[in-house]
Amino acid sequence: MSVESPHKIDTAKLDAIINQYEGKKSSLIAILQKVQEEYRYLPEEALIYIGTKMEGLSPATVYGVATFYAQFSLDPKGKYEIRVCDGTACHVRGSMPVLNAIRNKLGLAEGKLTSDDGLFSLETVSCLGACGLAPVCMINEKVYPQMTSDAISIVLDTLIKEEKGDK
Ligand code: FES
Repeated sequence: MSVESPHKIDTAKLDAIINQYEGKKSSLIAILQKVQEEYRYLPEEALIYIGTKMEGLSPATVYGVATFYAQFSLDPKGKYEIRVCDGTACHVRGSMPVLNAIRNKLGLAEGKLTSDDGLFSLETVSCLGACGLAPVCMINEKVYPQMTSDAISIVLDTLIKEEKGDK
């Protein structure tokens, strides 16, 4: 499956979303949610476009709203969003080797958050609320308990293989 460039915005698509809400600035949050669904994050160009296009708003206002709410991400997200818990319980039970295995497998140096193909993004979080299952990872909405570097490698290999098969 091919993944579109994370930085390209399609203004026709943005117009369609804005029109769906009749361009009402009271619908800005819903509009941003839709845009994020589309791109998996909020590209800066999209925020500028929305701020310019919608009456009564400015790019600065749209940007301010987008950065205020934790639900919005201004960084590109992969099709698969990997979250590795590095809270205390997970850390002492070996979350770091798991994190390093993911970085190695996906070619993500420290500080690089998204794989070159745009399929995977990686972040660490401080607790996923499943400390009894430590160390815990999530890929999108799925929880992976008691992870090891070998186990996560197998999970990632499977996803990569599925993607290559364009499933
Ligand atoms: S510390 Fe990892 S789930 Fe709570």
